[in-house]
Amino acid sequence: MNIPLVDLKAQYDSIKDEIDSAIGRVLRQGQFILGPEVKAFEEEMAAYCGTRFAVGVASGTDALHLALVACGIEPGDEVITTPFTFIATAESIARCGARPVFVDMEPRTCNIDPAQIEPKINSKTRAIVPVHLYGQPAAMDPVLELAQKYNLRVVEDCAQALGAEYKGKKVGSLGDAGCLSFFPAKNLGAYGDGGMVVTNAPEIAETVDVLRKHGSRTSYYHIMHGFNSRLDALQAAILRVKLKHLDRWNEQRRSKASLYTRLLSQVDGIEPPHVEERNKSTFNYYTIRLVDSRLDRNELRGHLESKGIQTMVYYPLSLHLQEVYRGLGYEVGDFPQSEQAQGQVLSLPMYPELSEVQIEEVVEALRECLSL
Ligand SMILES: Cc1ncc(COP(=O)(O)O)c(C=O)c1O
Repeated sequence: MNIPLVDLKAQYDSIKDEIDSAIGRVLRQGQFILGPEVKAFEEEMAAYCGTRFAVGVASGTDALHLALVACGIEPGDEVITTPFTFIATAESIARCGARPVFVDMEPRTCNIDPAQIEPKINSKTRAIVPVHLYGQPAAMDPVLELAQKYNLRVVEDCAQALGAEYKGKKVGSLGDAGCLSFFPAKNLGAYGDGGMVVTNAPEIAETVDVLRKHGSRTSYYHIMHGFNSRLDALQAAILRVKLKHLDRWNEQRRSKASLYTRLLSQVDGIEPPHVEERNKSTFNYYTIRLVDSRLDRNELRGHLESKGIQTMVYYPLSLHLQEVYRGLGYEVGDFPQSEQAQGQVLSLPMYPELSEVQIEEVVEALRECLSL
């Protein structure tokens, strides 16, 4: 038995002809950076996300960084976000010269707790970056209300949640800008790095577009210092093929997740992921919590590994406790929910092609280990 965390080869096998022909088309066209393929993909993505604009960049990390710059985030500013996320979220804030200010997560969703945001807002606060972790939208209404009250920007980190819905609206279309990642293991994954900023604001779209091309509107005429952060045409062509399948794949993920949750609800010591009724999750990861403190997560992972089942811990150390942020002055105990989650979370194999039999095998292996 071999059940990987994600199976990109199974996905490629299922769409091989379409992908090969899209790659061939770009090779014959000979335009590899931006160009018509990227433009067409941007239009399709804007339509998919329900935004006016979409601007392709080199990665999800760059999407966050450039969107924050376009929102006017500067050295000396403060930006509020969650400590329970991938480093790229806070790193992009820090790359603007701003200070990431962390707010603990809600235990049920592992997303930023909106009730704890207001006390952290001060005269330096400029933006909030909610993260839709594991594919589940954060509580956007209270975030947007606070943003309006204090005149803050909202930049959504949608890296794990493309296609997810909050009260019937696609993530990325709710804040000032939404940032997407096309990292290969994401629900819409390229065969390399890629990212995108989606927005309804023409000035944000225009600034990100200029920033990604060395600060130029017209080649070799520069109006600001920018970056080299362009989506390439091969990735755009691949992603255009995959976008046609995305809703079906996300639906398949939700159905695999329901099966996991049904089977795991009978297993003591495990808490399956909770999805709020208002949300449609994309289950980029299916992440359980090991709530029995006698359980050793490493031992459990080792047992599953010995049976050919791959798992991962997203994330083992909250950002406020990372060495890189020692200078921010946070301590153990500052964010109890994130600190508890970092010791309990475990992501199980999840991809559209995962079979029911494989899910049953994963659950059986977990049950076996828990009864030892
Ligand atoms: C929550 C989150 N934010 C940002 C990123 C950064 O995306 P990328 O790897 O495309 O730079 C990722 C992806 O790894 C992520 O999971």
